[in-house]
Amino acid sequence: MGRRDARRAVCPGSFDPITNGHLDIIERASRLYDVVHVAVAVNKSKRGLFTVEERIEMIEEVSAPYGNVVVESHHGLLVDFCRERGIPAIVKGLRAVSDFDYELQMAQMNHGLSGVETLFVPTSPTWSFISSSLVKEVAAYGGDVSHLVPETVYSRLVGRLADQR
Ligand code: PNS
Repeated sequence: MGRRDARRAVCPGSFDPITNGHLDIIERASRLYDVVHVAVAVNKSKRGLFTVEERIEMIEEVSAPYGNVVVESHHGLLVDFCRERGIPAIVKGLRAVSDFDYELQMAQMNHGLSGVETLFVPTSPTWSFISSSLVKEVAAYGGDVSHLVPETVYSRLVGRLADQR
């Protein structure tokens, strides 16, 4: 796994929390690459529902079965994270055309900055309507999101929202 010649990719995001949509992309990337790094962005200006450590713990738990996923936090530019680890490719899920504008901008910026490539994977239609923020909103109003996130994430989500009431 620490092999220097391993083919690596990164799946970046906020993952607050990880959803079945994220996990589907991570699983598919894990079949295409030797090592998949999941980079959890630390955003100083946005306080999440979960701490970065909690997000990492949840991602590690649900991606453990794939056997080649490494989960880390990252500050700063994604291209620096890639450069430090010898990662040539970013893998991103595209849910709809509406994702494309911003994703294309980021892909072109990242390529221009460092030559790192971005590969887009079409999200499974089963999960194409999910986002972490929608999941949190629906759950906060008591809606059932148990089919949209992994089981361990669901119980933590329900617990965290109950603590906040
Ligand atoms: O899950 P999100 O919040 O849509 O993920 C966005 C993320 C974290 C992938 C993106 O904002 C990012 O790469 N941030 C790291 C900082 C960076 O490199 N910014 C320049 C992007 S061109």
